[in-house]
Parts: sequence; C-alpha cells; structure tokens
Amino acid sequence: MPAVEVPEGYTLIVEGPARVRVASGSVEVFGAELSSNSEVSVEPFRALPFYARELSRLEVEQGKFWFVRGSTVPSSWVKAAEDIASTKPRRVVVVGDIDSGKTAFTTLLLNTLVGDGVRVAVVDADVGQKSIGPPASLGMGLARSQVASLCDVPFEDGFFIGSFTPAGLIHRSVVGSLLLAQRAERGGAETVLVDTAGWVREWGGRELKLAETLALQPDYVVFVGERGEVSQVLRPISGFFSTLLVEPAQVLRQRSREERREYRRHLYRRWFAGASEVVLQLERTPVAYTALFNGVALSKEEVERAEELLGVRISYAERTDNTLVIFSEEQPRATDLAKSVFSVSEVRVLTGVELLYNVVALASREKLLEGLGIVTGFNSSKGELRVYTAARQKEGMVLMLGNYKLNPATFDEIIIEKNPVLI
Ligand SMILES: Nc1ncnc2c1ncn2[C@@H]1O[C@H](COP(=O)(O)OP(=O)(O)OP(=O)(O)O)[C@@H](O)[C@H]1O
Ligand SMILES: [Mg+2]
Repeated sequence: MPAVEVPEGYTLIVEGPARVRVASGSVEVFGAELSSNSEVSVEPFRALPFYARELSRLEVEQGKFWFVRGSTVPSSWVKAAEDIASTKPRRVVVVGDIDSGKTAFTTLLLNTLVGDGVRVAVVDADVGQKSIGPPASLGMGLARSQVASLCDVPFEDGFFIGSFTPAGLIHRSVVGSLLLAQRAERGGAETVLVDTAGWVREWGGRELKLAETLALQPDYVVFVGERGEVSQVLRPISGFFSTLLVEPAQVLRQRSREERREYRRHLYRRWFAGASEVVLQLERTPVAYTALFNGVALSKEEVERAEELLGVRISYAERTDNTLVIFSEEQPRATDLAKSVFSVSEVRVLTGVELLYNVVALASREKLLEGLGIVTGFNSSKGELRVYTAARQKEGMVLMLGNYKLNPATFDEIIIEKNPVLI
C-alpha cells in the first residue's frame, strides 16, 4: 500500500472508516504518541487528526484524507488538559453542544493523564453517539494506555437507559453515570472523565447537565464551546464547581441525523456479533422499566371470570400496579365492569406481538450491562421470552425493557410513540 508522507508540523485528517498504520516517523493524535508500526482504526463518520512531530509516513487503508498545516488541537486545549492533570482530579465532567469537540477534548485529557501515569476511566454518558458501549446505554471503560480514539478504551461495564436520547429519562442518565463512576473507582481508577451528551439547550438539557454534575461532584467541569452557546448551563454549574471554558474545535467532522443513525447501526452490528436466541423464564427473571410481568398472575378462576366479563379468550393475565394486563387475540368490547371487579384503573389488552423486536438489556448484580438484546418471541402460556443476544446467560439476570424496537436483520431502529409494553 502506498504511504502518505506527512511533513513535520502538518496534520493528516483521516475520515473513517479507515485504518492507519504509522510506517515511519512519529505522530500524535489528541496527545497520544504513535510510534512506528502502531495502527489505529478510524470509526465511520468520524475523523482523526494525525499530527506529524517529524516527517512521517502513514499507510491509510480505505477512508478519505486531507492535509492541514499545523495542529488542529487548539493550544488552549493542551493548556487546559495540562492544568487539570496537574491537580490530580478525581472526577472531571466535559460538557458542550453537539459536534463541539467534547469527545476529542476528553481524549486529549485522558492521554495527558495517562502520560502522567494516572489510571483513568471514562464514563461515556452520551446515549446516542457512543464511543464506549452500545447505543441506548451509558458505557464505562478503563484506559490501559494512551488512545487515539475513546472507542479504543476497553469496555468494562454499562448502564442501559432504554432509549438513544436521554429526553424524558434524565433520572436514568444521572443514576447511571454516578453508578459507573463509582464502579470505575472501585476498579482502581484514580481519575474518572465523564463525556456527556450534546444536549445543553432547552429545559431538559439544562436539567440533565445540572443533575449530572451535582450527582457526580466533579473537581472540574470543562465546557467546550463559545461562552454565548453554553452560558445557560455554565453559569448555574459554576456556582457549585470549578469550571473551565475551552474553545470549540475548528476542524470538525460534523454528523447529520442520518449519519448518526448509520453509526448506531454500525455499533449494533458489533454488539450483536455472535448473538443467538436464548429463552428466559419470566417467573425467574425480574423485568425493569415496566410493571409488565412483575405482577401477580390471575388464578384459573379469576381468568375465567375475566373472560366472562370481557367476552374474550385469555392466554395469560396478571394484575400489576393499577392495571389488569391480559394477553388475548381478541379485543374486548367494554372494560368498565372488569375494572371495577378487579379494582384496577386500566385494562391493558396485549396480543404479545407488541413485544416483538423490542430492545432489551440484560443486567446482573456483577455487571450492570451484560449485553443488549432483541425480543424475538413470547410464549404467554409458558411465560417464556425469547431474546436474541450476544450476552451469556447466567443465574440472576434482570431484563431491562427499552422503549424502541430494533430489526434484528437490518438493525433499523423503530420508534414507538407510546410503547404499550411499558406499563
Ligand atoms: N481538534 C480536532 N481536530 C481534528 N478533528 C477533530 C478535532 N476535534 C474533533 N474532531 C473530530 O470531529 C468530530 C466531532 O468531534 P467530537 O466527536 O469530539 O465532538 P462531540 O462534541 O463529542 O460530538 P457529539 O455531540 O456527537 O458527541 C470527530 O470525528 C472528531 O474526531
Ligand atoms: Mg461526543
């Protein structure tokens, strides 16, 4: 393969998917030193800047590339990273708008700390565009060496949010990032970096950032952006914590909505590699994020009574929370009588098909995220759920129910307005 010569003091920007090998010379990517023979993969829809510290030759497999004179990493970033690293912080949260350079700055800070011999963990709290962990989840990894990309930080654990946007589920994001930071520290991390989602506007974005930082109690909050763009989140947070404002990256590979979806598809393919169908007994598997399957099954007599009142045949029924859930192929004409007899405020009629292709996660006490799954079948009379997953089955698993569907053949995301299985 022909090698690209990068003169000293120039940057080769490589757009993924690509693989880059340093054939000779010495290059730097976000502060990570790459010597001869090191190899880096560039994820699709992302770009990495390879800055030549001396005349270097790079072999680029696939991908587009172009030259920029000088370094694309602002010197203000380098200074901020060095200043922060010199104080040996315990926790640092990175905040900024979409496509501002949050992940890139986090990578630079990680490499600066690792260069100082610090054991660093990263909590990737962006549920939409993940570097560490699968979509719809938060991810945590422990860095063992410097990395060109956060995607190279080995995954340790995650926390399933159930949606690839934190909207409406702020509490799960906040709890998850704190849980993962604590797990990282228990695993030996001296510094935890939290790379957050680019949702900093509107009520929800502001609430999320404030709650995340208050929960994490960081030593620093770094804002990547122009003051005018982030002041709505910066000001209140600066009342509680030390804050730093760094300029947004000038050379950025922005991603469209479609590219973001395509990137998630790429991640699903990876997280479902080697997946197979497993059968879960619902009686022995607690289900989180819904009341469904956590109630008390109706007795044979009660089912008969419900069939009579509703005028339909029932394959399974349970009373859960304030709801009577029935699985039936038929639609009852009226439910008022059943509501009053069973003292519930709602009768939810499901056929079972509603569960198909629903995204789930498997969790356990040891590992908050054992893996993602897709529901591929439900047997109401046996109380069995079939799940397509790469997670290994073990005793004591919890099933966490997501709020969207995923086609297991194409990994197309199917958004459901009001998911009927989330009771
Ligand atoms: N200083 C830089 N020089 C060259 N490329 C950069 C620089 N900063 C960021 N990029 C590239 O631009 C893209 C967007 O940057 P990054 O992923 O850091 O932004 P982000 O704010 O984390 O975005 P998101 O909102 O999607 O999480 C990435 O492909 C990244 O590698
Ligand atoms: Mg990011």
